[in-house]
Order: sequence, then C-alpha cells, then structure tokens
Amino acid sequence: MTDSTTPAADSTSIESLLHENRHFPPSPEFAANAIAKPGIYDTAAADRLGFWANRSRELLTWRTPFAETLDWSGAPVARWFADGTLNVAENCLDRHVAAGNGDRVAIHWEGEPGDTRTLSYAELTTEVKKAANALAALGVGKGDRVAIYLPMIPEAAIAMLACARLGAIHSVVFGGFSAESLRARIDDAQAKLVITADGGWRKGKVFPLKPTVDSALAGFENAAEYDGPAETVEHVLVVQRGENEVAWHEGRDLWWHEAVGGASEEHEPEAFEAETPLFILYTSGTTGKPKGILHTSGGYLTQAAFTHRNVFDLHPETDVYWCTADIGWITGHSYVVYGPLANGATQVMYEGTPDTPHPGRWWELIQKYGVSIFYTAPTAIRSFMKAGREIPQGFDLSSIRVLGTVGEPINPEAWIWYHDVIGGGTAPIVDTWWQTETGAIMVSPLPGITDLKPGSAQKALPGISLAVLAEDGEPLARGAGGLLSITEPWPSMLRGIWGDMDRYVETYWSKFPNGVPGSQAGGPAYFAGDGARTDEDGDLWLLGRVDDVMNVSGHRLSTAEIESALVAHPSVAEAAVVGASDETTGQAVVAFVILKSRFADEMAVDAPDLLRAHVGQQIGAIARPRDVFIVAELPKTRSGKIMRRLLRDVAEGRDIGDTTTLADTTVMDIIADKMKAAPAED
Ligand code: PRX
Repeated sequence: MTDSTTPAADSTSIESLLHENRHFPPSPEFAANAIAKPGIYDTAAADRLGFWANRSRELLTWRTPFAETLDWSGAPVARWFADGTLNVAENCLDRHVAAGNGDRVAIHWEGEPGDTRTLSYAELTTEVKKAANALAALGVGKGDRVAIYLPMIPEAAIAMLACARLGAIHSVVFGGFSAESLRARIDDAQAKLVITADGGWRKGKVFPLKPTVDSALAGFENAAEYDGPAETVEHVLVVQRGENEVAWHEGRDLWWHEAVGGASEEHEPEAFEAETPLFILYTSGTTGKPKGILHTSGGYLTQAAFTHRNVFDLHPETDVYWCTADIGWITGHSYVVYGPLANGATQVMYEGTPDTPHPGRWWELIQKYGVSIFYTAPTAIRSFMKAGREIPQGFDLSSIRVLGTVGEPINPEAWIWYHDVIGGGTAPIVDTWWQTETGAIMVSPLPGITDLKPGSAQKALPGISLAVLAEDGEPLARGAGGLLSITEPWPSMLRGIWGDMDRYVETYWSKFPNGVPGSQAGGPAYFAGDGARTDEDGDLWLLGRVDDVMNVSGHRLSTAEIESALVAHPSVAEAAVVGASDETTGQAVVAFVILKSRFADEMAVDAPDLLRAHVGQQIGAIARPRDVFIVAELPKTRSGKIMRRLLRDVAEGRDIGDTTTLADTTVMDIIADKMKAAPAED
C-alpha cells in the first residue's frame, strides 16, 4: 500500500518551510472582540469531554438532553451524546426562525450568468419543509439513502437538509464525476432516490447532469443485463436549472418544481438519536474503490458548529461568510451547509467558476455582498497570484476581516499574497487541516489568539488531541517529522466505511493499535495518512500524504483508482500513476503507461490524449492526468512492486538517485529518454 513513508511534499518546499520564520500576532482590537478567548485551550485540556458536552449544549438545541458524552466501548466506533435526540435540520433552520431571526438572510445565491436568489432563514425553512414532504411522499424515510448530484444551487442545500429532516442519509456526488463514478456510488449505498438537475452553469455554458444520471441508471432499467446489486433507484427528482433538453422516463422521473412546488409547507421535524447516520461521502483511498465515509448527527453537528464559529470568528448578526467549496466535497458539507446554518450565519453561495465571465468574478462578489469571512483553497490562491494582483485590486475588498484556507498545505508565498492582497495586510488567515474522515476542522490557528506563522496549520483545536508519531508508534520530540495521528476520539469523527467495517479498522486504526501512552479514552490511535512535523513551539507543519493518495487542487485522488481506470482501456497493458509537484494545483496526476504490443505502433502518438480522455470519462475530469507517458517498461523492485518514488522523481525532473533495489536499472534511463523526447502536454 505505501511505497515509502517519506512525505510526498518535495524536498525544496520542505526546505523553504524550515526557513520560514515570519510571525503575525493578533491585533489587540481583533482580540478584544474575538469569539475564542485565550482560556479556551486550558478549559478544554482540564476536562476534554466536559468541554465538548458544554459546547454541544450551548451551540445546539437538543430535544432530549444527553447525559452521556462519549461511549468508546465499541472502539474504533465512537458514540457521542448517544442518549440525546435532536433533528439536524431543525437545528439549522426552525430554531433560528423561532428565535426571531427568520428575516435574516441565510443564502445570497449568485448564478454564474448573474441571476440571483436571496433566501432568508424563514424562506429556507419553508423550502426544506416542502422538500421533506415531497421526499416522504416518494417513500423516503429514516435510514434510506438519497444520492444528490446537483450544481451549486440552493436546492443542493435544501435537498441535503430535507434528507436530514427525515432521518434519511444523503450521499452527495460531486457534479464533475462521470456516469461510472456516480453509478458506483449509487450501487454501493443502494440509493432509493437520485436528486439532480437538468444541468448547471459552468464556464459560460450549461453542463448537463440529468443525461449523466440517465447513463448511470441505464442498467437499472433492464435488470436482466444489470450485474450489480438489486435495483434500488425508484425515482429521479430533477431541478430545472440549465433548461437544456433532457430525456424523460415516465414513472421514474419527476420535476422538482412540481413535486416540491406542490408540497405542503407544514412539516414537524422528528427527533432522532444522536448517532443517527446523517450522510455518506465517498472519498479516494489507497485502493481503486472509493470509500463511503459515514458521519452521524449530534457529534458531527457539534464540532461543525463549534469550529465554524470559533475558527472563523463568526459573529452571525454582522458577518457575511463565503466558502467557495462545492457541496460535493466535505468542505461543502461542513462549511457551506451544516456549520454555517447551525450557527445562523449569512452566507454567499456561487454556482460558477472563478473566472467567468471575467477573471475578477470572486472579488466582484466579495464587494457586492460585503463578504467579511472568506474560505478557499491554496490552489485557487496560487492561480490568482499567477493572474496578477491588479485583478483583485480592482475591487473593494475592505469588508474582509478573516481569511481561511483548506485542502492542502499553503506555501508561505501564497499565504503572504493572500494576507496582503485579499486581506488588506490585516486579516488573520486560518490554515485549517482536516479530512473527509474527521468531519470538521482539527488543526487551525484561532483568530485573535494565535500568533500566525505562514505555512503552518499550527495547533490542534481545543478538545482535539494529536501526536506526531514514528513508524513504530513512538511519540516524537518537537522538531521531528513523522506520521500525524489523532490520539483521542472527537465528536465529528467518521463512524465507519459504509458496508465495509473491516476496511475501516484496517485503514485508520491498525497502524497504531495501542494508541499513545497517556491517552484518556485508550484503545487505538487514528492514522491520518499525512506526514507532519512540529517546530520548537509545538506548531504543526503538514508535509503531504505518506500513502498513495494524491492531492490535486485540494481534491483527493487515488493512484490505484486512476491506474485501474487506465488498465480498463483495451490498449493498456500496465500503468503506474504518481502525483508530481505542480506549481498551481499542488500535485498533478502523471501516468506512465505500457501499451499492449498489438497497439503499440498504431497508437503510440494518439494514446496520451486518448487515455487522458478515457480517465476523464471513467472517473471525472478532475482525475484526468496532466501527462501520460507511453513507456516500454516500468521500474519495479525485485519483488515486482512498482517504484513510484522513482517515477515521481523523473516526473518532477529530479535526479533519480539510488536505484539499487530496482530489478532492471536500465529501465529508468529508457523512461528518462522517453520523457525528454515527449514533452508534457498542456
Ligand atoms: O493531506 C491532507 C490534505 O487533504 C487531505 C484530506 O482531503 P479531503 O478528505 O478531501 O478533505 C479536504 C478538505 C478538508 C488531508 O489528509 N489537507 C487538508 N487540509 C490541509 C491539508 N494539508 C495541509 N494543510 C491543510 N490545511
């Protein structure tokens, strides 16, 4: 599974991090009004479970108050607040209306073509009630799975909340995924309903979604030819957005505006136990099959709300918050839907791409809505840096007071640019480390408290316990690099992999089965898959993945998944995929492919383009390799394992160094020659 425990980040970037020593202390004015007060770390350390119980009572409305905070007797499956009951949607909606905040804007939505919608908390609550009634009329109830395949339109949040309101489990699939990927996720979760749109706007055009759903479901209409699990999808609910032409399957397909539009506005939310599953979200791992990460209700919402409020210093009465993530990713779940809405925040939601119809679109939206808290990915920041500061400088960004980043390490140069150009030289930046699996932010500065260091995610949040461990599980001293591990259970932790609990235990809990000395909960420690080091102050510097998972533009991709898509092509004999450093996207997918001999001659020239398109079609455009190199051999160890480290070195133009474990040392020369002859595409 792992071919090396050397963090994937290249040595030059680690080198520059080691020499980064700029500090940005909080301003006294910011600190005076900050939500998080310095004592918070000590309070949490003195009584970790008590701290989380208090946060949960303070931030959420429980129907039945919980008495028990954590039950870890079934480790590594935690139960948080398990004897309490709540309704997640009621916490995100109805209670704000009941508290007199129904007129507050929940969502300022902006479509890519410039059309807009504003939804107050009262209006959003009504829409969710109607959607819940419509879903219930289609037979959706507690525990049923609903696949959501939508663009960034308000219905995406409405659909998620309607599921939550009914105790149904949503599985949001990013709109950029292919029919094959969607189908695999529908099958794995055995979804009963698919919610999609005819199409959505992207880069000035309508991209179709419903036709992709139709292809994904094609097998369901002819059960005899379908070799997957039992036919599960009963209905497809279609939001009209792109107004593109769509095929219609009578009896199966329904328009959202008819089904939801005609539904009653009355809906009483039922109270569910805290451990009721809330959603499944598929993410890439080290094997070819994506994992359905399972999250539940009370613990997840507690940590999503707590982190959203404290990390972003949210003052819901005055702030306008904008997180640019798509709801297809965990960031869209926790920091577009659940965290902000649980906190009664006003937010901006934008459908399209940052550069359409002009390269300043994001900055124009910040100016238009007076965005005060802005959360995005380092990749986006680096591409804006490339385009030049004149573009954002053409807009009034003075409303910005807190900036955040997520998804990958931010290099100090990009941090400083973000701070100066977008944050006016004053806004604190929170570099937030977390994962689909952790459900919510785990490591981050707290604005108003932390002395910021560009490039470091800094400290475990109050109530979170982390350690950097050696390969053998020994905690490492400050200054050393090792494996990032979470040493105590946390409220928003995953509760398993859907349908595969063995894989859950094996992937996350078998590396450090005995935990760390002094752990309160006891049991195993969680292995995050990331390399990290602490500095002399104990601040954490993330060094990238230590396994065969790539991080491209902040999105996780598995080398194995792309390799298996490549070998599924009839012309491919063997394939090896690596993530090579890329100035803008963090890492880029680079594939080395051996063609079957009968295709080698006729396809040699066209193969790279054809195979890039093939991966796009199999998995989705985000997985399309930047480069495909057709080679005659792949470097393997004597036991036959592909040496990805060497391929990464060649892909990044480095000297390949020691090749003594390589079975055939001439292979690398051949590959290197090949690469010189065939310069990278794009
Ligand atoms: O490698 C880490 C990187 O993204 C991985 C998690 O990916 P995903 O589950 O898709 O969630 C992304 C959004 C939370 C981590 O294992 N990562 C995430 N945030 C950071 C990061 N690496 C460095 N610094 C971060 N702030």
